[in-house]
Amino acid sequence: MSSLHFIIIYICITVAWTVQIAPQFTNGTSVGKIDNAELNEVSGCAASRMFKDVLYMHNDHGDRPRIFAVNATNAMVIATFEISPAEHYDWEDIAVGPCSKTDTASCIFILDDGTYHGVDKRTIYRLYEPSSLVSQTIAPNGVLKYNWTERAADTIMVDPDANVYIIGNVLGGRGMMIQLPDFAWNNNNPVWVESGSFFSMYSTHTDPESGDISSAGNEVLVKNSGHVYYWKYTDGDVVGALIHPGADVPYIAGGLAETVCWSADAQAYFTISEGLHASLNTYTRV
Ligand SMILES: *[C@@H]1O[C@H](CO)[C@@H](O)[C@H](O)[C@H]1NC(C)=O
Ligand SMILES: *[C@@H]1O[C@H](CO)[C@@H](O)[C@H](O)[C@H]1NC(C)=O
Ligand SMILES: *[C@@H]1O[C@H](CO)[C@@H](O)[C@H](O)[C@H]1NC(C)=O
Repeated sequence: MSSLHFIIIYICITVAWTVQIAPQFTNGTSVGKIDNAELNEVSGCAASRMFKDVLYMHNDHGDRPRIFAVNATNAMVIATFEISPAEHYDWEDIAVGPCSKTDTASCIFILDDGTYHGVDKRTIYRLYEPSSLVSQTIAPNGVLKYNWTERAADTIMVDPDANVYIIGNVLGGRGMMIQLPDFAWNNNNPVWVESGSFFSMYSTHTDPESGDISSAGNEVLVKNSGHVYYWKYTDGDVVGALIHPGADVPYIAGGLAETVCWSADAQAYFTISEGLHASLNTYTRV
């Protein structure tokens, strides 16, 4: 085979493996501004699987351990859930998915792993979704502690098989991607995690900032400082998808926006900026 043939075949294989064609989404509209002044620095969102059009959100560093249920159709806060016992050092992202391989109830997963003042908590809290949208205190049913070489993680994602993933938040955006081991739950010692898989999308900031796997487990969104990227995957291997470039999908930039999440049926996704009365933006399939 001539080297030209080889190069052409190589390019075809590479393109087949890497080009992501995204479905078309609208360019984005605001559903409203967060009405509650206490939810003023949103750093994570995730769609409830139990309550229609409800997103769970939390504040960044500086708040107490609590999450808010927000109406996805008008950005109004419906209820506040205090999480206890738990610590809010620097909550950076949230996800919803099955609690575990043996308990398919719907759980909320909260990632406390920023680098605020260099203290690394590297802790994930897991709690059942509340049974009603009435403000209440919820106790975690799981705590996972880990340790690794990365400076921080701002992204947590859970798939329909209850696999939990985090991505390192690093300058340049090529964060290490980890599927956390199930045995690490409720093991008091941090589990050391490491992988040779790194997020694909280059950035000039510390990225990525947030991600979310669709409830069907075949589409994923990850947000960098200036972009939201999309991947479709069919084999359940989300890390295998994210090592390849994603497709750039619409994103209304503006302000410091640290989060992206799917709607529960994945017919739309949402972004929201940090700040008081921030706009909740939605992008729907065309
Ligand atoms: C989004 O905006 C771009 C640029 O203004 C435009 O070309 C495109 O058609 C819009 N897409 C949709 C789905 O409206
Ligand atoms: C969200 O707001 C809509 C419009 O006001 C309302 O019909 C719906 O009941 C609200 N959802 C929840 C869960 O409060
Ligand atoms: C995390 O690992 C580093 C490097 O091995 C170590 O210095 C540090 O003490 C570990 N942290 C915890 C909480 O175990």
